[in-house]
Amino acid sequence: MALVRLPLFERRISLKVYQLENTNGISMRFMNYGATVIAIETPDSRGEMDNIILSLPTPHDYTKEKTYLGATIGRVAGRIRVGEWTFPLEKNEGDNHCHGGTIGFESRFWDGEPFQEETRVGVRFTYHSPAFENGYPGNLTATVCHSLDHENNWRTTYTATTDATTLFNPTNHVYFNLAGSKENTIHNHTLTIQSDAYLPLTAENLPTGEIKNVQNTPFDLRTATPLQAVLASNHRDIQQSQGLNHPFILNNQQHSAATLTHPDTGRQISIITTAPAVIAYTGNHFNQDFTLSTGQKVTKYAGIALETQQLPDAIHHPNFGNIILQPDQPFYSETTYQFSLK
Ligand code: BGC
Repeated sequence: MALVRLPLFERRISLKVYQLENTNGISMRFMNYGATVIAIETPDSRGEMDNIILSLPTPHDYTKEKTYLGATIGRVAGRIRVGEWTFPLEKNEGDNHCHGGTIGFESRFWDGEPFQEETRVGVRFTYHSPAFENGYPGNLTATVCHSLDHENNWRTTYTATTDATTLFNPTNHVYFNLAGSKENTIHNHTLTIQSDAYLPLTAENLPTGEIKNVQNTPFDLRTATPLQAVLASNHRDIQQSQGLNHPFILNNQQHSAATLTHPDTGRQISIITTAPAVIAYTGNHFNQDFTLSTGQKVTKYAGIALETQQLPDAIHHPNFGNIILQPDQPFYSETTYQFSLK
């Protein structure tokens, strides 16, 4: 089985798109702006191909619209309360810092280096973030490697090194809608997350500090649960966020963390990660703000992001894990998304 890589086009000097394909008919497109995944085409159970992620119409649109669709998020994904760490981070969401600052990893040009191995094809993206970019100390070199193999696994690996103590907690912000262009919300999907505990949020979407058991709540996703039911729940935490926007603590790392299924098309994605948590976000804020590649305006619940990472605002909660990166401790994390048909 041969895997093919096509350097697609170089429309503007700086914008580069890479296509990865495998012989099972799956193709993925990435671009150097934000080390972003801009399309994933997979067959459904009838063999029909469709793009299963939320995308903008053209690569250039990503440089004009700030949507985070498919992008690499960093240096730190999620929210941090500003002012209580050694260095003041940029406040870009009220009094807080979110997704690495106004011009985070998602809005930077990364160097892309395609590669082909016997069983996989991929692109390794590198970005040098200078000291005090968006307030973060340390000259940091980050890499994100995206690859696709024969067995329909999309693997993402993150590495980073720094020359001074800093914070680091990256993720990818791809939104899935496995119905492709057939349905413009994710209501008819089921979701499983292998997690006994989730974090409730404040009105500013910061963790309150509590860790709650999922038992007898709509956050109990340990068996496949229709998203329709979760989104319709009158549970206080769902109502406050108008859907899911919550960190789940994973029961096991490097085992199946989450599975998203669209029963009608048969498409399924299982996520395996070394990260300790996943943030499930159901696109609660989308409100016709931009046009998708389908030609439709984006609507609330158009897609679901399953962001593997450490817990948000970990720096202020000793029991949330450690996101401090030291010069002598290179960072590594890995997440695999397995595409299958059910
Ligand atoms: C956050 C949401 C936010 C979205 C887009 C998600 O990771 O949890 O609160 O609206 O990203 O920025």
